[in-house]
Amino acid sequence: MGGFCLNRLVLVSNRVADIEKQAQSGGLAVALGDALRSIGGVWFGWDGNVIEEGVTTAVKETVQDNVTIATVSMTDRDYEEYYLGFSNKVLWPVFHYRLDLCEFESAYFEGYRRVNKFFAGALKPILRDDDVIWAHDYHLMSLAAELRALGANQKIGFFLHIPFPPPEMLLAVPLHDWLLEVLFQFDVLGFQTSTDTNNFRRCVCKYAKGQVHDDGRIEAFGRTVLALEFPISIDVDEFAAMANTPKASLQIARLNRRTVVRSHIIGVDRLDYTMGLPERFKAFRRLLEMYPEHMKAVTFMQIAQPTRVEVEAYDSIRMELEELSGAINGEFSDFDWTPLRYIHRTMPRDTLAGLFRGCEVGLVTPLRDGMNLVAKEYVAAQDEEDPGVLILSRFAGAAEELQEALIVNPYDIDHIANAMQTALHMPLHERRERNSALLKRIKTHDARHWRESFLAVLTSCVHGKAA
Ligand code: F6P
Repeated sequence: MGGFCLNRLVLVSNRVADIEKQAQSGGLAVALGDALRSIGGVWFGWDGNVIEEGVTTAVKETVQDNVTIATVSMTDRDYEEYYLGFSNKVLWPVFHYRLDLCEFESAYFEGYRRVNKFFAGALKPILRDDDVIWAHDYHLMSLAAELRALGANQKIGFFLHIPFPPPEMLLAVPLHDWLLEVLFQFDVLGFQTSTDTNNFRRCVCKYAKGQVHDDGRIEAFGRTVLALEFPISIDVDEFAAMANTPKASLQIARLNRRTVVRSHIIGVDRLDYTMGLPERFKAFRRLLEMYPEHMKAVTFMQIAQPTRVEVEAYDSIRMELEELSGAINGEFSDFDWTPLRYIHRTMPRDTLAGLFRGCEVGLVTPLRDGMNLVAKEYVAAQDEEDPGVLILSRFAGAAEELQEALIVNPYDIDHIANAMQTALHMPLHERRERNSALLKRIKTHDARHWRESFLAVLTSCVHGKAA
């Protein structure tokens, strides 16, 4: 591991993935799993079990190779107030600029503080003095403050996987000033993009009279943190290899079998209201209306993985999509052609890799997204000799890096439809040029680069001051 010296890495995240079963895991889990397998260390978090209030359980530790997985269960009240409540009904919508979907109750805030404190209390006895701790995502913004209250003096970093909102929006989070203050108990704060980092700086200046330095240091609340962007990525070689196996070739052959269809468009997302799925469906309908040449010639496959089904806003978006897909297929299908294939299920990563390679257009059009690793996976999966075209929302964090994609405004249905038309007709030389520039970028800025740059900064800082 180049550039820095690390004794033991302790990762903390709300969800902990089974390090052996990454095939089904999402972005955060895969990126962190890779980091730990190569460096070794501890991964601490929730085991995914919800237990009755009042039942006490111990920390469970399992060792797999050089990694210790330490997990705790959560009570039903914690799940309701901390996970569904403050994390997913307050922070998630507001940080994705959806103030209209924010639902606050004071019990949510108490639940959030309580679980961060509980995590800190369960983690503290496992810690060694020379550990480096790296906490992840919006569920754990007060973890460092709770650990410090218990006497932890280790370096603690934090990476936010979702966007950070501008000051006017952060105001919608009750106790936003408390959130800013507790973040200053970390030593390094990592964001996905320069937009997010700047939003954070602006919030600290506006609401905490913070002082921003050119090297990324920010002073406020009597402390200094380093706030910088570290765009997350994927293991490009691993994903490219997954897209080029006999199993993947078989899938591609299955896609093309038996039909009159010439081209495939694919979208893969968690079924989240941030992903712009209704707009995407409507844009596909516009494509068929504006360019009837695609009748019976193009299909759009949307894989929407179920998520957070207990939150009402997720139920509404599911119903909206079911209605829209039914309407579009009802209007345009023929006995030998189904234009839209909507799959509401989770699929293994290797299946997705094969599908990405077999589809001529990748549609990634979130209304707001921290990064969106699907965009990078689609690029990594392409056949360099005959690559597909990525259509990417300007509001996905990935758009800061992947400028050679066709960049669209995800709210503008006609714009997306026209981008699909451009992609479907793009000449081979242009597809190759764009793909090779995108591939070059993600190969040099892959998951390893992400974690090593973050850990280099964290290990060389002294309580928030650059070494
Ligand atoms: O985008 C944030 C994120 O934490 C992802 O990294 C992860 O895939 C997803 O949310 C998981 O959400 P949940 O744990 O609520 O299912």
